[in-house]
Amino acid sequence: MKHTTRIATIACLLAVAGLVNAAGSKISLIGREVPSVETLPDDEYGALARYGHQLATRTFAHIGPEVKDKKMRYAGNNLACTSCHQENAAKPFAMPWVGVSATFPQYRGREDDLSTVEERVNGCMQRSMAGRALPLDSREMKAYVTYIHFLSRDIPVGASIEGAATKGSKPPNRRADLAAGEVIYKAQCATCHGESGEGRRNGVKGDALGYLFPPLWGPDSFNNGAGMNRILMAMRFIKHNMPMGVSHAAPTLSDEEAFDVAGYVVSKPRPQKAHLDRDFPARWNKPIDAAFPPYVDGASADQHKYGPFPPLAEKARAVASAREEMKKSLAARKQ
Ligand code: HEC
Ligand code: HEC
Repeated sequence: MKHTTRIATIACLLAVAGLVNAAGSKISLIGREVPSVETLPDDEYGALARYGHQLATRTFAHIGPEVKDKKMRYAGNNLACTSCHQENAAKPFAMPWVGVSATFPQYRGREDDLSTVEERVNGCMQRSMAGRALPLDSREMKAYVTYIHFLSRDIPVGASIEGAATKGSKPPNRRADLAAGEVIYKAQCATCHGESGEGRRNGVKGDALGYLFPPLWGPDSFNNGAGMNRILMAMRFIKHNMPMGVSHAAPTLSDEEAFDVAGYVVSKPRPQKAHLDRDFPARWNKPIDAAFPPYVDGASADQHKYGPFPPLAEKARAVASAREEMKKSLAARKQ
């Protein structure tokens, strides 16, 4: 057999066996086995991946606001990354980190720039964790990046990933009903997250042991610049992951219920991030549910926070297509 034919034959057999994943292929995280950091050898990569796993699941104990070493207090609240990125940051549709190494660097509207994995980690550090950015050369940042890399094994650059981010859901064409949201909250969420959204600690204040059930609002929660503070994001997350034990395959809340209870949660007080007006410097791609000024579409702050969203989505589509038209006519003029 000639060398080239043999290579072709091997490639063909591998493809048939499903072992070749070219860029552009589809990968599903649903039912996919997640490797454990414990299986890694005791080398530098293994050590960093294990530390990254610790930092993700017990953030409060390593870089939280109650750790002894004041220099290490990077996070501003006692959440863990896995308070939201559930199941070791591998659960489908709970913003899993699986595949993230293959999808970054990535254009991000919030910065109107190409963003690296490190910058994305610091995005959540400064918003979801209400804290400060980790230095790029810190062991902690390297550990996060290594753990994300480990979770992203065998996912080729450019693959489309089913189960990434959050699963879509359809907001009703009305303002969120906060009173209805409160009824749902008290019946289905308060047993764990507390009547006042305060959550339930593992130990006592000051012991850096974090939460059994994380707080949803108040001083120890995510800040107003966090993705979870956007009603449509919170709605998608809650519908497919809450109450605890729910997955995308069998949600128990309807779209309407998830919308209202998300509205109730984002209506509550939480830490405020400075300089939010500097987010989304390219105003045209600001998400319609980012409820802080400036707004370029003339709609009110209340509508951006609570809806109704279908008219805002319609406006955003019109702005996007007008931009496309303008780009085309500029390009035509240059020729
Ligand atoms: C309060 C909830 C919450 C917490 C806590 C949280 N995140 Fe996130 N994270 C999100 C949401 C929501 C998104 C996706 C939406 C967005 O882009 O705003 C996200 C996205 C990400 C992404 C990109 C995922 C992708 O699919 O591209 C990374 C990486 C990430 N977070 C890392 C972290 C790290 C590291 C921590 C802990 C230091 C953390 N997050 C804590 C809510 C959270
Ligand atoms: C049985 C306990 C339980 C119930 C009931 C429950 N949750 Fe949770 N929730 C959790 C736990 C535990 C986490 C942390 C993630 C994990 O460990 O999987 C969490 C995480 C969250 C988060 C992200 C973390 C944060 O601090 O913001 C949100 C938002 C949330 N829950 C909303 C809700 C809503 C809304 C309801 C009611 C519809 C609800 N939960 C019902 C236990 C519960």
